[in-house]
Amino acid sequence: IFSEWQFKLQLDCNYTSNNQKRPCKADLENAMAELGRLLIYEASRDWLPTIRGEIQSPMGVASVEFIDPREPVAVVPILRAGLALAEHASSILPATKTYHLGISRDEETLQPTVYLNKLPEKFPEGSRVFVVDPMLATGGTIVAAIDLIKEHGVDNKQIKVVSAVAAPPALQKLSEKFPGLHVYSGIIDPTVNDKGFIIPGLGDAGDRSFG
Ligand code: PRP
Repeated sequence: IFSEWQFKLQLDCNYTSNNQKRPCKADLENAMAELGRLLIYEASRDWLPTIRGEIQSPMGVASVEFIDPREPVAVVPILRAGLALAEHASSILPATKTYHLGISRDEETLQPTVYLNKLPEKFPEGSRVFVVDPMLATGGTIVAAIDLIKEHGVDNKQIKVVSAVAAPPALQKLSEKFPGLHVYSGIIDPTVNDKGFIIPGLGDAGDRSFG
């Protein structure tokens, strides 16, 4: 599903058309948010409990299936870049709760540091948790996030990861550490360079959205 979004996400801010600078920051944010909505929809399919009900249409009674609003669903965006990808989550998951997790990666060592943890003391019994981070590069950040989330009372099968671009080192780490975990990504790019950037990737997604 990535082709159109890949183009929008990878637009260079200095690209000009008819001597006008493109509003690339807005393009990136819109593309991220829309991609996030599609990926969260896919990740929700056959995973969230539903209930049947009836609604009155102008012409009669329609039988419909809803996501069960009594079942606990959580979205955990990894700040900062995860905020952009999770922006439209509530249009797919109206009864969800959002818990922010701030993790930054050291530019030299590439080691993650948690600087904000708004997870609940314990996730409600049976919670399903979407962890949202656009870039899975070396995998240090997403592994730290899931380790932390699991300390708050959920197991691998209760977690789904949503990302825009994933790279093999991160996917390898996730499959070794968290068997049974599902990852929904717009694309898998082939390489991570020695500075920790995904190639071709998108550059620094956090800086491009908020820097
Ligand atoms: C980026 C990105 C991921 C992480 C991926 O965040 O958004 O969270 O790096 O790298 P890894 O898989 O090698 O750990 P960054 O630390 O730059 O923070 P930001 O979103 O605030 O820019």
